[in-house]
Amino acid sequence: MKKFHLVWDENRYALGIPSLDSEHRSLMNLVNELSEAVAQDCDCEQARQKMEKILDFAAMHFAHEEDLMRRHGFPGAEQHTADHEKLLREATNLMETLSPEHSNRALLITAFFTDFTENHILHEDRAISQYLEKQGIRAD
Ligand SMILES: [Fe+2]
Ligand SMILES: [Fe+2]
Repeated sequence: MKKFHLVWDENRYALGIPSLDSEHRSLMNLVNELSEAVAQDCDCEQARQKMEKILDFAAMHFAHEEDLMRRHGFPGAEQHTADHEKLLREATNLMETLSPEHSNRALLITAFFTDFTENHILHEDRAISQYLEKQGIRAD
């Protein structure tokens, strides 16, 4: 079975904002834990618990980013917040389709989390750190 695995690479993922970088590392670890469990054919309940853990952590992390964007007047804050909300909504909807009869759903959802985590950090989140840097703001 295909296994998704995210590897933290400082040069690729680090935004230079220590609290966000550390949360992104934790998020990747949680997604990898899910991937590991799904690759070992875990049952639906286990997969669901791991997904809920990811979503809880992501909601906390998103709130942190949204607060940072607002405090510093990041122009793309509204769109970025909408992207976060969309992810939480889509992931929750996907989770509802998990059932023992459709074991491939878990793999699909894992792919979704993996892809989002990587691309969102590389593009959307990087835009925040680039903006702060341009403004000469040092966020920690
Ligand atoms: Fe993020
Ligand atoms: Fe974000």
